[in-house]
Amino acid sequence: MIFKGTKKIGLLISALGLSVTAFCQTGKVYTIDPAQITAHIQPTMYGIFFEDINMGADGGLYAELVKNRSFEFGDALQGWKTEGGNGIVKVVDRSSERADNPHVINVDITSNSGAFSLINEGFRGMGIKKGEGYNFSVLSKQAADSKVKLTIELRDEAGKVIATTDLLPNGTTWAKHSAKLVATASANKAKLYISFKGKGSVDMDMISLFPQHTWKNRANGLRADLVQKLADMKPGFLRFPGGCIVEGRELKTRYQWKKTIGDIDTRENVINRWNTEFKHRLTPDYYQSFGLGFMEYFMLSEDIGAEPLPILNCGMACQFNSGELTELGQLDPYVQDALDLIEFANGGPETEWGKLRAQLGHPAKFNLKMLGVGNENWGPNYIDRWKIFHKAIKAKYPDVKIVTSTGTDPDGARFDTLNTAFRALGADILDEHYYRAPKWFRGNAKRYDKYDRNGPKIFAGEYAAQSVAIASPQNKNNWECALSEAAFMTGLERNADVVAMASYAPLFAHVDAWQWTPDLIWFDNEHSYGTPNYYVQKLYSLNKGTDVVPLLLNDEAVTGQNGIFATASIDKKTNELLIKFVNTTDAKQTAAFDVKGLAKYQPTATITTLQSNKLDAENSLANPVVIAPVVSQLKIAGKNLIVTVEPYSFTVIKLKAK
Ligand code: AHR
Repeated sequence: MIFKGTKKIGLLISALGLSVTAFCQTGKVYTIDPAQITAHIQPTMYGIFFEDINMGADGGLYAELVKNRSFEFGDALQGWKTEGGNGIVKVVDRSSERADNPHVINVDITSNSGAFSLINEGFRGMGIKKGEGYNFSVLSKQAADSKVKLTIELRDEAGKVIATTDLLPNGTTWAKHSAKLVATASANKAKLYISFKGKGSVDMDMISLFPQHTWKNRANGLRADLVQKLADMKPGFLRFPGGCIVEGRELKTRYQWKKTIGDIDTRENVINRWNTEFKHRLTPDYYQSFGLGFMEYFMLSEDIGAEPLPILNCGMACQFNSGELTELGQLDPYVQDALDLIEFANGGPETEWGKLRAQLGHPAKFNLKMLGVGNENWGPNYIDRWKIFHKAIKAKYPDVKIVTSTGTDPDGARFDTLNTAFRALGADILDEHYYRAPKWFRGNAKRYDKYDRNGPKIFAGEYAAQSVAIASPQNKNNWECALSEAAFMTGLERNADVVAMASYAPLFAHVDAWQWTPDLIWFDNEHSYGTPNYYVQKLYSLNKGTDVVPLLLNDEAVTGQNGIFATASIDKKTNELLIKFVNTTDAKQTAAFDVKGLAKYQPTATITTLQSNKLDAENSLANPVVIAPVVSQLKIAGKNLIVTVEPYSFTVIKLKAK
């Protein structure tokens, strides 16, 4: 239980038609003055944190269905199997010609009769939908006298063929060969079979299978259902590509954006740092293909109306791992990467990197306004490196805001040192992270009340309530966590003059391949669901308004008195008043809102509620909307707005001006 409330309040009062004076004698009266603006809410306020963790990119958002398509995993044939005795597969090392894509396979079919198949298991299987089309492709070349033909099949869990086509990959020089398949049935864990007929020898690389229906039906595209969930949030920004993945466990596996653009077969694969990070959740088949690279991230941001926020390595590998450092004198290539990235995003066709963006299909600028230097880095080494980046970026691009790490925690020595240092250095935006118990979130709704109004803006860059402990595999996306985040977020919004951006983290998790929990959106190969935390984020984002107005109880902000948290804003564009009301108690609560100028609003309020009597309730693939928004209308009778809210509930009340 979170908080024991006074059940009698809800029982004593009829919800409608009571005057504020009468109500005062029994319940709470919250005053709201929509004309008195206290803070402007940035359009960026609620956004998305994306990282390739939990198979969030490869095996997740990135719609490629073939795992290890270019044979670059540590075990070059991981994810692949063979069947039948009529062939031999060899891994060929061509690193001297192609350091970016050093391995291909050679398949030698030894006779004109007999069977041989190459089988890919997908990312914990492949999600295939009945009636949908799939694009198969391969880069290949055959030996001069070779006559190999391919049959491409998708087979379901029972081995039944659910799609098939033939392909003749002829030609003695490397070329892309493609074929289309249409599925006659659905399967959650299908496999790809490539069967070989005809004696000969064929070299193969980039063996790929994509659904035709991707987000915006783009080739090399993204999973449409997952992007839709992001678009539905109308996020203010998209932070990418992480997270610790930016840092790498050592510098050679750090994220390097320049290697993630251009032809996908030139994007050098890198082991995913979450591969064996947690002994309790080993994922040894987790690599980054970078098929979802920086161009795709920028386009995704544009598609969903989010400001792009790339985070770059600052010359330091993850300090929880190797902590490897680039010497200050060697930092130039890292700084140059940052300057070139800004040019890539914003440069005209006359610039080297702007021209490349246009060649890659996007002549229009991405209008990058901010960029992060380092993720969860800390200590004097970080400050020294940050100063070099800061000087170079501001000299060339004074308007680009720099997002700066305050370390791993929202308090303690690391935080205090960085917070003090970067405030003195005039940082633009400080990135704070908090993975804490639900109670911490309920206790910190006032965190930003005393922050310097003239100092750096705050980016609550990664946060999530942890039901057990940080990084515990037992953590749940339960209602207590989501409700506590909703309570905390009243404090973010009330302090929107200081807090400019906020994002829950991590974003995605594959139910069969995750390392970290809790996560905002869970999925399998076919379906996905939003957690209660997702719906909290979505409700805040869709109802943020443009300006904060005072919502007071006894002349004080509502920050947990009697288990209630609340905030109010107006939307100048839609002429709405938006009240967010979080009841963390186990009792119904009836609240009277004494809204100045209530008569100016239409007499019906829209009430959207997230609620459960069970704090351990969760959504799941089987039951995706146990906790999901329920919308109702409330007639405003008399002079006051009186609303009864359920125990353990988050309610958004919307009033539209006449
Ligand atoms: O969100 C998971 C991880 O938590 C991020 O990669 C990192 O920045 C933080 O420690």
